[in-house]
Amino acid sequence: MEAKIQKYESLLSQLDALYDPELNALGNTSNILAAIQATFQHHWGGIYWANFEKERLELLLFQGPPACTIIPFSKGVCGQAFTQSKSIVVPNVHEHSGHIACSPLSNSEIVVPIIQNNVICGVLDIDSAHFNTFDNIDKQYLEKIATKIPKLLNLF
Ligand code: SME
Repeated sequence: MEAKIQKYESLLSQLDALYDPELNALGNTSNILAAIQATFQHHWGGIYWANFEKERLELLLFQGPPACTIIPFSKGVCGQAFTQSKSIVVPNVHEHSGHIACSPLSNSEIVVPIIQNNVICGVLDIDSAHFNTFDNIDKQYLEKIATKIPKLLNLF
């Protein structure tokens, strides 16, 4: 099995073991991000959550260096994935129209929508310091992981 698939399969088992039904949604979500980080050591991985009143994505939880806090729905790869409700794989962020550079060290990126109760609520964003890091395997597994994020619907 490809090494990446093995890592994701092991990550999925870890996530099931880590989920604590007695814990609040934010704590459980933090553990998901920490497990992704521990598995892959990407440059940055986090969640932007939708504030529909203000038509923008707001930084929620993450692993990695400090990041952009607010992204209007109309901006960035995050905004594109959110408004189109689909995952976007960016092999080279410097060539992607509309990309917002939160860190000069980021070279490739994947953004996956988070859909809860049939409503798009936010995005899971992973940044890599390397080019061409993400592919269809990442897309498929991260979309699955996004469904494991506890219900955070009434956050705002
Ligand atoms: N690059 C993203 C912004 C968020 S950071 O990567 C953490 C974007 O273009 O939406």
